[in-house]
Amino acid sequence: MGKVMIMDHPLLQHKIGLMRRKETSTKDFRELVNEVAMLIYYEASRDLPLADKEIETPICKTTVKEIAGKKLCVVPILRAGIGLCDGILQMNPSAKVGHVGLYRDETTLEPVEYFCKMPSDASERDIFVVDPMLATGGSAIAAITLLRKKGISRIRFLCLIAAPEGLAKLHEAFPDVDIYVGALDEKLNENGYIVPGLGDAGDRIFGTK
Ligand code: PRP
Ligand code: URA
Repeated sequence: MGKVMIMDHPLLQHKIGLMRRKETSTKDFRELVNEVAMLIYYEASRDLPLADKEIETPICKTTVKEIAGKKLCVVPILRAGIGLCDGILQMNPSAKVGHVGLYRDETTLEPVEYFCKMPSDASERDIFVVDPMLATGGSAIAAITLLRKKGISRIRFLCLIAAPEGLAKLHEAFPDVDIYVGALDEKLNENGYIVPGLGDAGDRIFGTK
């Protein structure tokens, strides 16, 4: 059974509070998304396996730990998921990156797929699917369904803000996927936006509105 983890670290809560403000600029918003992504990834990568490595310090020989295999892959759900990538790649610079392109139809709120490109060895990797918002859950479920059809099994999902409805739907659809959430909000409004949320994450990251 996968775990659902709602972060409660003070740094994270503080930074998400800054992101929510409508007066936060595109530049600051983008920086905050990366910082928050890094903090969530810190927790989401906690159970990565370690291996012993013999090294020499300036003083003596010793055994240190390193991440075993380093076979990781970050998968942003386009386009807003791209905003989380730099922060995560700073922590794991050798991770590969796959892309899943989905947008939410504004009327039906159903996800529409338009792109998918994964590394050829993706099924051997630990996959971190990232998207700032988990609203109805439709986009996350569609992205993970697509990856599963490609034989990819080891998947974690990271988001900055989730609505209870989307979180429950995603966990029900994929009980084995670990889900890491920066903040769990109150509800969805009639337009499918998270309340209180932070508005349209893609528009705020890329300055398109
Ligand atoms: C946003 C967000 C998620 C999706 C969440 O993307 O980044 O992908 O909505 O909503 P859901 O849980 O109801 O599916 P959007 O469709 O606005 O596309 P964008 O990233 O291109 O802005
Ligand atoms: N997508 C967003 O960008 N924001 C929301 O509140 C819901 C979906």
